Amino acid sequence: MKAIVLSGGKGTRLRPLTHTGAKQLVPVANKPILWYGLESLVAAGITDIGIIISPETGDEVKTKTGNGDRFGAQITYILQDRPAGLAHAVKIAQPFLSDAPFVMYLGDNLVEGSLAPLIDQFKRNQLDSLILLCAVPNPTAFGVAEVNSQGRVVRLVEKPQVPPSDLALVGVYLFAPTIHEAIAQIQPSARGELEITDAIQKLIDLEKKVEAFHLKGWWLDTGKKDDLLEANRLILDTQLKAELCGEVDARSQVIGRVKIGTGTKIINSTIRGAVTIGNNCHIENCFIGPYSSIADDVTLIDTDLEHSMILQGAHIVGIHQRIVDSVIGQRAQLRVAPQRPKALRFMIGDDCQIDLV
Ligand code: TTP
Repeated sequence: MKAIVLSGGKGTRLRPLTHTGAKQLVPVANKPILWYGLESLVAAGITDIGIIISPETGDEVKTKTGNGDRFGAQITYILQDRPAGLAHAVKIAQPFLSDAPFVMYLGDNLVEGSLAPLIDQFKRNQLDSLILLCAVPNPTAFGVAEVNSQGRVVRLVEKPQVPPSDLALVGVYLFAPTIHEAIAQIQPSARGELEITDAIQKLIDLEKKVEAFHLKGWWLDTGKKDDLLEANRLILDTQLKAELCGEVDARSQVIGRVKIGTGTKIINSTIRGAVTIGNNCHIENCFIGPYSSIADDVTLIDTDLEHSMILQGAHIVGIHQRIVDSVIGQRAQLRVAPQRPKALRFMIGDDCQIDLV
């Protein structure tokens, strides 16, 4: 079995972070989102993996992720010249996939648990497709499936106004090579994309075997800021292991599950886990509260924060009103004067969001 991981697309919902980089490389708990999917595939025994990349961010994805050695996989990069839809990505990956069955994994999704039971069901029942479903409170925002009493998928609808169920399609799909024939028979949708839901519907119409697997754990599409923070919280909650490599001075307190990278200095600060801090950070006179991830090369002085993500090279000084529910981009600089500030001076990039609450 092979896999393709989709790491192209536009990432409009995560601007401004995605103005300067691929959304799949945004770190969650200090690891690129994309890598969780790759690790999950390898853990399920799939090591021949194609990554779909875009002309804009493909080089960055390639440089950061490499040839697969670090995952124990062999990675082939497949360039998609424009984000023409998930089924279009499968179409351009056909030379790589050849006649192998495969997993399609959306590179901005995080799915809890092992892929092994899905692969078992797919093989055991000799399916043409297995889709992963999860009950959601707002099905109108997703692709939604209607499933009969035997577990067969009878209909798929993209963002329905009147949803036939509350079962949303999660970003992991399994396909037999018959999907290529189905894709050859569909047309672009109203939004101009070759939709994977249309291709799967085509399989159903051709009376191929399409079943669903109901996800019991959590799943997140890291499309927007709050999804990203929630993914960060869940990963820190379930996967973080305490590890202290940096220097913590005698005036500092480290409580609970905290990971501190090499070359990082913690001075006169309190860190209350679950918190992960990268390498070569300088943290002085700070309170860092639960569910925070601080990437490499970050400076935090006289600052309090919790439930936030600070990306590489950011610099924050003098903010003792607690920073909460925030994502601060790479190399961002936030400084508040020690005396009560009389004015606010900004240099804020496109699509930023600032809430002084
Ligand atoms: P989406 O999140 O549906 O699309 P997007 O990346 O364009 O994001 P936004 O809505 O914020 O503009 O895509 C799901 C995943 O699939 C994501 O990792 C990007 C990837 N993708 C491709 O690789 N090729 C494509 O043609 C599309 C549409 C998405």
